[in-house]
Amino acid sequence: PAPTVALTPPMGWNSWNYFAGKVTDKDIRDSADQIVASGMKDAGYIYVNIDDTWEGKRDENGVLHTNEKFPDMKALADYVHSKGLKIGIYSGPGTKTCAGYEGSLGHEEQDAKMYAEWGIDYLKYDLCSFIPDVMHKQAPNDEAAQMRLMHAAYEKMGKALKATGRPIVFSLCQYGWDSPWEWAPALGGNSWRTTGDIEAKWDSMYTILSQQAGLEKYAGPGHWNDPDMLEVGNGKLSLAENRTHFTMWAMLSAPLLAGNDLPHMKPEIKDILTNKEVIALDQDKLGRQASRVYSDGEVDVWLKHLSGGAGAIAILNAGSDRVSTHPFHLSLTRLGLHGPMHAKNLWTGEDVEIRDDMPIEIKSHDVLLLKVAAAK
Ligand code: GLA
Repeated sequence: PAPTVALTPPMGWNSWNYFAGKVTDKDIRDSADQIVASGMKDAGYIYVNIDDTWEGKRDENGVLHTNEKFPDMKALADYVHSKGLKIGIYSGPGTKTCAGYEGSLGHEEQDAKMYAEWGIDYLKYDLCSFIPDVMHKQAPNDEAAQMRLMHAAYEKMGKALKATGRPIVFSLCQYGWDSPWEWAPALGGNSWRTTGDIEAKWDSMYTILSQQAGLEKYAGPGHWNDPDMLEVGNGKLSLAENRTHFTMWAMLSAPLLAGNDLPHMKPEIKDILTNKEVIALDQDKLGRQASRVYSDGEVDVWLKHLSGGAGAIAILNAGSDRVSTHPFHLSLTRLGLHGPMHAKNLWTGEDVEIRDDMPIEIKSHDVLLLKVAAAK
């Protein structure tokens, strides 16, 4: 069946990368307010997602209640919706979530119905304690059987969400185990994490980025590879590193879920997150994830095909020297392009002419992002 949600990669914000276990109802409201005030909503950020630690206890009827940080989830959802935004929530198939809160095991239909009644639009479903609770217990030492149990757990929640009749984005989080890109779409998955957790550090971001090469054929409208949420504006990432991180997630057609402290966002971080031409690469209707076409020393060259025959080229210097360690020459031939041709630098707005074998200098951990009108 044709997908009805996530026709382009979901965009929004998620509480985990900045607030982690401290997130409150007020943080979610403040973040929703800021998404509107900062212009992020106009730039396409729509989902406001509560990650782990909202959960309280189940009552005698199995109904899961929120904890004291979230006094009224329905009221919170109404508030987020009143801003023209959508709201997401978090759970997992085990008895416990990753932070040790109540999971959905044995209550999948009941929880899905409750999410729909609250008006939830997005569910991140995180494996965590399902591994010891079910996989190790029911199928000790039988990896194939463990994988079947894991698939079944995601299928169960996928069906439960569908049965509510509410369009709810279903985001799988099981760290890329057993190649979810091969089976998650059939279970109703709209995205699946491809790796372990990202951290606000260059090495973490770059390692995850490198692990996406080769997965491009699995992404498309309704179903996306998820290299994890954005750390733009978090930790000690430099301006260049923030720009490179955002550029590459857009090239990857990744979900763009900001994870920073929105009420205290610096202007230069806002400028990165709201660069409409970069966002347009991510949201291009073809939904074709970039390929890493070649690397030369520590410089990686990625190409993304866009609708209308256009293309985007990202040239990234992963080296730690100030400039690339040896003179880098861009090979248009290896990209299947014929120069000279006009290109637009999407970070400076400049029009440039590119030609085969031209020397290019890119600072350490920075990226040159070019859009060309015709890329075969
Ligand atoms: C896992 C996930 C993270 C986050 C935490 C919450 O580590 O991968 O993205 O949701 O759990 O506990």
